[in-house]
Amino acid sequence: MVLKLSLYDKIIPYSISYQLSVTLPIENRLLSLTKNGMKTLIVVAHPELTNSNVNKKWVDELNQYPDKFTIHQLYQVYPDEKIDKEKEQKLIEAHDKLILQFPMYWFNCPPLLKKWLDVVFTYGWAYGSKGNMLKDKKVALGISAGISEEDFAVYNTPGCNIFDQLTSPFKATFTYTKSDYRSYFAFFDANEPTVEKLESKAKEYVNFILSL
Ligand SMILES: Cc1cc2nc3c(=O)[nH]c(=O)nc-3n(C[C@H](O)[C@H](O)[C@H](O)COP(=O)(O)O)c2cc1C
Repeated sequence: MVLKLSLYDKIIPYSISYQLSVTLPIENRLLSLTKNGMKTLIVVAHPELTNSNVNKKWVDELNQYPDKFTIHQLYQVYPDEKIDKEKEQKLIEAHDKLILQFPMYWFNCPPLLKKWLDVVFTYGWAYGSKGNMLKDKKVALGISAGISEEDFAVYNTPGCNIFDQLTSPFKATFTYTKSDYRSYFAFFDANEPTVEKLESKAKEYVNFILSL
């Protein structure tokens, strides 16, 4: 049985025992909900995905499981960077897990992802006395970094891992929104990866997300 609903009309109930297809206005594509629950939303923020090795491979791998993942490429959907707050909020509401995937740029995320957080995570929706749409949602990061893990370790201080520190604004954000923050999956030394490493890490990444 297939039912068409606009995401603008209603929030989809979590437990649905039959296959349900929902037309997503944002990209006009189908979102399948199965008896196993809602899909995972992967928000990908890579300014040049066509020139990417790691993030492109991750997207290709995730695309092999269309019943499990919705890939949402910010730089492709918003080339003008004019983010539609309502559409993004509905998209997040329709998923029970959220992954933010990006290459590390100057020890931070690319700017469109930061803008996306600023625009979408609003008072009354993400936080505040009535803002609970991210509450208990499982959230994690998928990050590629050009520097090797050993080179990052130079910046560690006693008892403090530099990568944990760099990702701490995300941890704080998702603690603030009462989400279920599940840390990150990282691909270090990402500038000239071997095919073998790309293959094995892509599978690890998918397993990491599925295990959340
Ligand atoms: C503007 C810019 C800034 C970067 N800053 C960092 C950085 O701070 N730390 C790091 O490890 N890699 C840095 N890199 C390297 C990227 O993280 C790396 O090229 C990317 O993760 C590789 O993934 P991809 O194959 O999906 O593009 C930077 C790259 C660019 C273009």
